[in-house]
Amino acid sequence: MDNAIILNFKTYKESTGDEALRLAKICDEVAEELSANIIVVPQHSDIYLISQEVNIPVYAQHIDNIKYGSNTGHVLPEAVKAAGATGCIINHSECRVKLADLEADIEKLKELNMVSIVCTNNIAVTKAAAALGPDFVAVEPPELIGSGISVSQAQPEIISGSVEAAIKINPLVKVLCGAGIATGEDVKKAAQLGAQGVLLASGVIKAKDPRAVLMDLCGGV
Ligand code: G3P
Repeated sequence: MDNAIILNFKTYKESTGDEALRLAKICDEVAEELSANIIVVPQHSDIYLISQEVNIPVYAQHIDNIKYGSNTGHVLPEAVKAAGATGCIINHSECRVKLADLEADIEKLKELNMVSIVCTNNIAVTKAAAALGPDFVAVEPPELIGSGISVSQAQPEIISGSVEAAIKINPLVKVLCGAGIATGEDVKKAAQLGAQGVLLASGVIKAKDPRAVLMDLCGGV
């Protein structure tokens, strides 16, 4: 999953329901056209439909640490896998989980042969997350999320520091970064700092021409 461009659909109007499918198809077309590694992360309710319509990976935005049985209103890991998700973001700054649940979620995703991406907010938390052995950690300073100010331009040290810290703790864990990423230049700078890919949302979802932004982002890989 090197040089991945991971589009978190969040719960924007422009990335919900039919709009989510339209956006996912644009991502699929650009990925095909440019042989780019684009991954979409829709809301749980949109995973099944999108996974049936696109060839690119579809990940979930969250899972709960629960098993089959008497649970209400939670997200069962086996259910998102059955819906077509092949990976999952965990502990996003907009959906934090407890440490014990984080460890259990990572183990469950391994058991289900799904990719795990643990979101962190600084270098210290990146170290802690790397120790739990996810496939990826994604460092995202919450204050830059949705700001249009790219983490790779505004806080390059958090990326390089997270890469350095993660390798020391667990060389198998790869580092992604996110927050404010919107251009190919942001992606290129993140790669130069050691990131194996980027997470983003508003730079594409809120764009007048999402396809054009995606093409530019892929140019930075
Ligand atoms: O998961 C990535 C997301 O939090 C970044 O948001 O809008 O700054 O690209 P945005």
